[in-house]
Amino acid sequence: MIFTVAIDGPAAAGKGTISRAVAARFGFRHLDTGLLYRAVGAKGGDPIAAAQNLTAADLSRDDLRSMEAGQAASKVAAISEVRAALIAFQRGFARGEGGAVLDGRDIGTVICPEAEVKLYVTASAEVRAHRRWLEVGGVEAQVLVEVKERDDRDMNRADAPLKPAADAVIIDTSHMSIDDAIDAACAEILAHRA
Ligand code: CDP
Repeated sequence: MIFTVAIDGPAAAGKGTISRAVAARFGFRHLDTGLLYRAVGAKGGDPIAAAQNLTAADLSRDDLRSMEAGQAASKVAAISEVRAALIAFQRGFARGEGGAVLDGRDIGTVICPEAEVKLYVTASAEVRAHRRWLEVGGVEAQVLVEVKERDDRDMNRADAPLKPAADAVIIDTSHMSIDDAIDAACAEILAHRA
């Protein structure tokens, strides 16, 4: 069986939590594609070389979830050669045997337009910044500024900009509990499974 669930959306929308829950529920593999860009940004030096030579050790650094790593990720993610270097791995993961959940920005539009299920998970910038602030601490107003800045960069880059695929189902989690959002995602998957 090959079955791909693409989960895209802006920063801190809850994609990671939903993806992990969906993968556990259906026994699918999960790839957090944001981690690839975070690892490239955190490595420093030439980002194209970093993307071409990414190692498991790069991906297991413990500083990848920080706000700084998020900003660095969105800067290197605008470089076409960086994106190109990461495509084959992501496509192989998406279309390998067994179900796969990938979360990111361009999964339904570029990496796997043939995905059986495409979700676009979003929420207001204020709600997303509040959730991220609960995770990382610091000054909430500054987290909001950085979330908006990153979304702006991700939505306006020339290569693979963040946007919902034409056939994506939008899940706005602004007024939803995480359990309700997971249920909504699972319902979509059940509806598409033969
Ligand atoms: O967890 P959060 O939503 O804050 O971010 P992330 O998914 O870890 O992604 C970090 C950054 O990597 C994003 O702001 C994008 O610039 C970039 N990214 C991308 O360009 N394409 C993807 N498929 C995933 C992430």
